[in-house]
Amino acid sequence: MNTDALKKMAAEAALRYIQPGMVVGVGTGSTTNFFIEALGAAKIHVDGYVASSIATENRLKAQGLNVLDLNGTGDIPVYVDGADEADPHFRLIKGGGGALTREKIVASAARLFVCIADASKEKPMLGKFPLPVEVIPFARSFVARQLVKLGGSPTLRNGVTTDNGNVILDVTGLDLSDPLQMEENINAIPGVLDNGIFAHRRADVMLFGSPDGVIERRA
Ligand code: A5P
Repeated sequence: MNTDALKKMAAEAALRYIQPGMVVGVGTGSTTNFFIEALGAAKIHVDGYVASSIATENRLKAQGLNVLDLNGTGDIPVYVDGADEADPHFRLIKGGGGALTREKIVASAARLFVCIADASKEKPMLGKFPLPVEVIPFARSFVARQLVKLGGSPTLRNGVTTDNGNVILDVTGLDLSDPLQMEENINAIPGVLDNGIFAHRRADVMLFGSPDGVIERRA
């Protein structure tokens, strides 16, 4: 089975968490794109969707789905999004698509975070995937030096400007054995908007697409 088929399987399984009348948060990325297609086909009468990126907003609208402003919804019942890595405690690395800051905001506003991924994303420990850090352009060089002091090797993601007008540094070599602490340490650097460790707001449910079917894990 190819990876896309596994992502699609996980994405379609997330439909079981969507009920009529809900406001649903929607993540960003190729797995979430399968979820958006499934939403378009399922025609569940939700109140609307909160998008975690402009790309997702456009895809939701292309499916004829109602997009809401997070400033008007209050907390939301459920958020569905992919991940680049997930550890056994449902802590994640996200931001491969550069949308990590808005993703973390919507995930944090949600009562339930359902993470969808192909099973290759499940890892014993976080840290192989380069950690995305969203940085205000003015502070890029300063922040890069502080990330080196934390043990990392940052690389500027060339040609990428986030939806918030910032740049992304992808950081390898960090010791993520304590993801909660590293999430805090990086976010304490002036000029960092957010980083892709989702440890303070980890997932509540993992849906992994595997050749044997969907594996569902709950925190
Ligand atoms: C987007 O910024 C990311 O957080 C994605 O959710 C993550 O990179 C997973 O992407 P795929 O679903 O494309 O693997």
